Amino acid sequence: MKKISAFLMAILMLFSLAACGADMQMSGKETDNMESESAQRPDDLEEFGQENMTLVTSTENIVGQEVAGQMIIDQNFVLITGGSFEMGSPDTEAWRSEDEERHTVTVSDFYMGIYEVTQAEYTEVIGDNPSSFTGDNLPVEMVTWIDAIRYCNARSEKEGLTPAYIVEGQTVIWNRSAEGYRLPTEAEWEYACRAGTATPFNTETSISAEEANYYGHYPYEIEDHYFAQGDLTTKPGEYRQTTVAVDSFSPNRWGLYNMHGNVSEWVWDYYGAYNTGEQSDPTGAETGTLRVYRGGGWNDFAKNMRSAYRAAFAEDKESFNIGIRLVRNAVNVNGSVVSAGVQSANHADGKILIAFFSWGGNTRGIAEEIQAQTGAELFEIKLVNPYSSNYNTVLDEAQRDQNAQARPELAVHVENMEDYDTIILGYPNWWASIPMPIASFLEEYDFTGKTIIPFCSHGGGRFGQSLTAIGKLVPDAAMGEALSVHYSGGSRLSEDVAAWLKKNEIIE
Ligand SMILES: Cc1cc2nc3c(=O)[nH]c(=O)nc-3n(C[C@H](O)[C@H](O)[C@H](O)COP(=O)(O)O)c2cc1C
Repeated sequence: MKKISAFLMAILMLFSLAACGADMQMSGKETDNMESESAQRPDDLEEFGQENMTLVTSTENIVGQEVAGQMIIDQNFVLITGGSFEMGSPDTEAWRSEDEERHTVTVSDFYMGIYEVTQAEYTEVIGDNPSSFTGDNLPVEMVTWIDAIRYCNARSEKEGLTPAYIVEGQTVIWNRSAEGYRLPTEAEWEYACRAGTATPFNTETSISAEEANYYGHYPYEIEDHYFAQGDLTTKPGEYRQTTVAVDSFSPNRWGLYNMHGNVSEWVWDYYGAYNTGEQSDPTGAETGTLRVYRGGGWNDFAKNMRSAYRAAFAEDKESFNIGIRLVRNAVNVNGSVVSAGVQSANHADGKILIAFFSWGGNTRGIAEEIQAQTGAELFEIKLVNPYSSNYNTVLDEAQRDQNAQARPELAVHVENMEDYDTIILGYPNWWASIPMPIASFLEEYDFTGKTIIPFCSHGGGRFGQSLTAIGKLVPDAAMGEALSVHYSGGSRLSEDVAAWLKKNEIIE
């Protein structure tokens, strides 16, 4: 579904987490109490231990000039002077996860796009605009990682630069000495995003919807202050439900716009555990099945826009929440990095299991529709200690489990998981991710070589970061095309499910 229809937008606007008809809105107070907190940007960079950093907020007057010994190559790129920083998050950071282990990284100088790649830029080079929200100055989205790599190369060729990548079938080789456009490494991205800060966001204070384009109803730490929002430093703000122009809001200290929010940005690296030894210019895990994307987008909760937050998705999948930011080398680098490509989903003739967790019944209804159309077996994920049936209580229980990365004990088990090739996995979107019973389920079995096809019932947030969460839990499974269904799916459920099953080649 490449275009977001007016119908869907209308549905998104009606977003309420009130499951099963309860009319409480999870976003609570809207903009009434919103404080206007503009980013503080002290001139004194020494305060951030980055006195060698070149602060450039506009390059318009310095194109062709040397800054800190480096030439500004283009008014849309800024020199990021290399240095060392602590990558990852401290143990004390709210909503961090274990894959953000802190370690010291040094990066060399590089040039970074001040803005996310716009649709005008993308279309000029590729001749096609895949974006869900259209506008020349909006960021391009609905691009896969592979699309991003091809865009880098095509733009380099157009401008007479040596392309950074050699693409041979599934294999991508990054020629590190090439001068052309490329994606940032994960380390370069975080270094540039932080711009000398060590706080959860580069605004230092908890980021507001007036400073970034995100799911503004859910500012940082709303989860555990949901019923006492007066305690929040940043109150709920606007959820724009669309991307915005790439030069919106104030840039970070190093002149980069929208490092948090608007669209997430693909980086080069495979997703994997950090190598936590001290290192220079790391290029990520050697192998993997998922690529990292960073920064959060218009549809993400603030916790998933943190400087250290690591999202991941298959390199051949696209999202309306992911775009591109370019970089180029500023120093001579040698060598190459080879990556071998992804497992493609293969559902041919395999036995199918429909496994689902449902709290209020919507996901169960969708699972039953899938069963009716496929004849596959149905398995309900149930807990030894079920969540409360009270809506307000389950909101609290769910966020606490998610925050603690709990693995609630399951009451029922699939005895013959080895017999299934494809697992159609259903769950409600809880706090922009999976309910933790899904994590318990995914950790209980070996899904290597199997295909997982997720479907998610939601109250407006679509998948949130649930696909990232599933991918991280079962990196050795292939992921099929996922389906998001608004609450129970209404009268269109049957046809939406049929179209999705066909796309996944489950039915003809
Ligand atoms: C604890 C909890 C957290 C929720 N969080 C979200 C959310 O972050 N985003 C969203 O779109 N909907 C959210 N919802 C709404 C549910 O995803 C939605 O009502 C769904 O249809 C419930 O499916 P079920 O009836 O199978 O439980 C939440 C609901 C609950 C109970």
